[in-house]
Amino acid sequence: MSKPDPSLVALVSQAGGRSAATPVSSLFIGRWSPRAMTAEPIPDEILFALFEAARYAPSSRNSQPWRFAYARRGEPDFAIFLGCLNDDNRDWARNASALVMIASKAIFTLEGSAEKHISSSASFDAGAAWASLAFQAELLGWSTRAMGAFDRDLARAASHAPDTLKIEVIVAIGKRGDASLLPPERRSSEKPKPRKAMDEIVFAGGFPADC
Ligand SMILES: Cc1cc2nc3c(=O)[nH]c(=O)nc-3n(C[C@H](O)[C@H](O)[C@H](O)COP(=O)(O)O)c2cc1C
Repeated sequence: MSKPDPSLVALVSQAGGRSAATPVSSLFIGRWSPRAMTAEPIPDEILFALFEAARYAPSSRNSQPWRFAYARRGEPDFAIFLGCLNDDNRDWARNASALVMIASKAIFTLEGSAEKHISSSASFDAGAAWASLAFQAELLGWSTRAMGAFDRDLARAASHAPDTLKIEVIVAIGKRGDASLLPPERRSSEKPKPRKAMDEIVFAGGFPADC
């Protein structure tokens, strides 16, 4: 057997019992979503590197249906974005360095044509952009946590989103902080979450009825 690529590590992570049966980049099992964040300012070159990574995500017919609205901590919009979150999320996300609304736009035109098309995969494609953003953050030593628990109407009003956009998530971006920054009841879950076993999610030739 040939030697594994040194950039691929079959690792058992230090926390949370994550493991890889097959060698995979530590980027994938090392990333996790903390709630404890240090509240430090995020430099523009970091924030825009994340958008740059997201921009190059794949999408159906290259429709690029993702849209991002951001608010950096300390800016007036940050409090407005924070106000869209449910109470639980607002509690910890106030220490994020930036909040980013990720929206999808199902209506698109192809380059060189004004004809409007509807994408059936706009949310799926925006999810790919979110993953790219999250992994780029990880590579740069920053963390992200997506939040689906927010008031959609408030978020639409707060971000002036037109009806053509669906706001998918609000993402908190920050530097991972110590769990002691969180209320006591939150601290024990501040670690990487395990995953389903491979044989629960991957099947040769088709899907079993109970999957
Ligand atoms: C679409 C989406 C919505 C989520 N909503 C919330 C949320 O409202 N609050 C929260 O604390 N985490 C939320 N999460 C984070 C997930 O709970 C987390 O990603 C999952 O438990 C796996 O953990 P990991 O990212 O640390 O591996 C959300 C994640 C996604 C992708």
